[in-house]
Amino acid sequence: PASADLAAAFALIREIPDFPEPGVLFRDIGPLLADAAAFRTVVDALAGTVPDRVDLVVALEARGFLLGAAVGYARNLGVVAVRKPGKLPMVAHRVDYALEYGSATFELSDQIVAPGQRVVVVDDVLATGGTVRAACELVEHVGGEVAAVSVVLELAGLGGRDRLADRDVRTLLTV
Ligand code: PRP
Repeated sequence: PASADLAAAFALIREIPDFPEPGVLFRDIGPLLADAAAFRTVVDALAGTVPDRVDLVVALEARGFLLGAAVGYARNLGVVAVRKPGKLPMVAHRVDYALEYGSATFELSDQIVAPGQRVVVVDDVLATGGTVRAACELVEHVGGEVAAVSVVLELAGLGGRDRLADRDVRTLLTV
């Protein structure tokens, strides 16, 4: 996509102070996703960050689902949802992880990522990197290989890139 189109899309990201906790500046990509042109532009750009020789998209609950499914469609790849606890009937593995605010748990379905499969992890925002790291741990626990991590918005200064130093992290916008 043209950089002017990307800039117009990114301009739709809203900043909400003190959400979900005092002192946290929340980046809301909702208006970007709701705009047809911006959504297409960003999905095309994100799909362009996915390396060749990838077998599967792994999308992270919840906003990562919206982007991951679209990226999978654009790149002719299947999509696997990494989910918050209690949603999956057959769980292969579970990982607890820390967030900028609080903690959370991710689960991966049993027999959904095959050993040796190369996946790209897709999410909306990279902050501390805890979320992506947990997802990578799940994939690798079942024998998958994380070929790359593709994220729309990287929040510099929260240590995400450092925490993922061993990963091929591809982001569209750093703020
Ligand atoms: C947000 C965002 C990323 C994650 C990034 O999700 O969508 O997944 O935080 O933070 P990190 O890099 O510090 O781990 P959130 O946990 O709010 O969950 P949701 O998408 O289900 O609302």
